[in-house]
Amino acid sequence: MEEIKNKKLTAVITGAGGGIGRATALRLVKEGIKVILLGGNRVQKLSETEALIKNAGGECEIYPGNLTDFNFLFDAAEKIARENRVDILINNAGVAMNAPFTEVTEKQFDDIMNINVRVPYFLTQKLLPYIKKSGHATIINIASVVSHAGYPLQSAYVASKHALLGFTKSLAAEVYKDGVRVHAISPGGVYTDMVKISRPDLSEKGMILPEDIADIVWFFISNRGNAVIDEILVHRVGKEPFLV
Ligand SMILES: NC(=O)c1ccc[n+]([C@@H]2O[C@H](COP(=O)([O-])OP(=O)(O)OC[C@H]3O[C@@H](n4cnc5c(N)ncnc54)[C@H](OP(=O)(O)O)[C@@H]3O)[C@@H](O)[C@H]2O)c1
Repeated sequence: MEEIKNKKLTAVITGAGGGIGRATALRLVKEGIKVILLGGNRVQKLSETEALIKNAGGECEIYPGNLTDFNFLFDAAEKIARENRVDILINNAGVAMNAPFTEVTEKQFDDIMNINVRVPYFLTQKLLPYIKKSGHATIINIASVVSHAGYPLQSAYVASKHALLGFTKSLAAEVYKDGVRVHAISPGGVYTDMVKISRPDLSEKGMILPEDIADIVWFFISNRGNAVIDEILVHRVGKEPFLV
């Protein structure tokens, strides 16, 4: 994709200290895209991603910090936009939670809504004016199969991912005339820290790999024809197709 390499695009990716975010960052630098890795409480993990990218000859900046601290989030977003062009935003950072509905506290509910909905919503609002200036304006939200159906013991996570998908749809409808493409990727089980912690019963075998999702991100960025795909819903092999 020489044409995209020549554009010297920059992508902001949240939560790239591991899992889908790290795999996506590594995939995009392979295509000549500069990546700005925004947010991460585990600085060491984010620095590891940075080192992997730099060893691969990629261009990368990191902004470690808690994204739900809105002073940090907005200061970082402003600095990023001041010092870079912003063509692509990938809202990836998120947390899951397993608990019976009756046991979810207000704080747990607020915390999960904050990182999974409020952060992508207002980060996108901050960066949109800059993204609109790009000839390759793309926003990708990492939703989930739980954006589409109810799952027991995950009510707060499911509510947050329904909200994220709803936001994605409204934003897409609001900005497509400005040339901004807004997509959702809705994966089933991906073998990352999130799943290792929340579903220790699952093994890597048959799980979606973070690199599989990174390939879909690249597909959205590289596919610039007139056929626009809004969302890709992905299930893991062995799960019944066309069912979430
Ligand atoms: N794994 C799956 O099966 C699956 C399926 C569907 C959708 N997803 C979605 O995919 C996205 C990526 O998840 P993953 O599976 O790759 O899990 P992961 O490896 O746990 O990645 C989540 C990332 O988000 C960051 N993060 C979380 N809260 C943060 C905060 N308050 N401030 C800054 N960074 C924060 C984490 O960094 P720190 O820990 O360093 O803060 C981490 O790097 C999430 O939105 C998730 O809901 C995952």
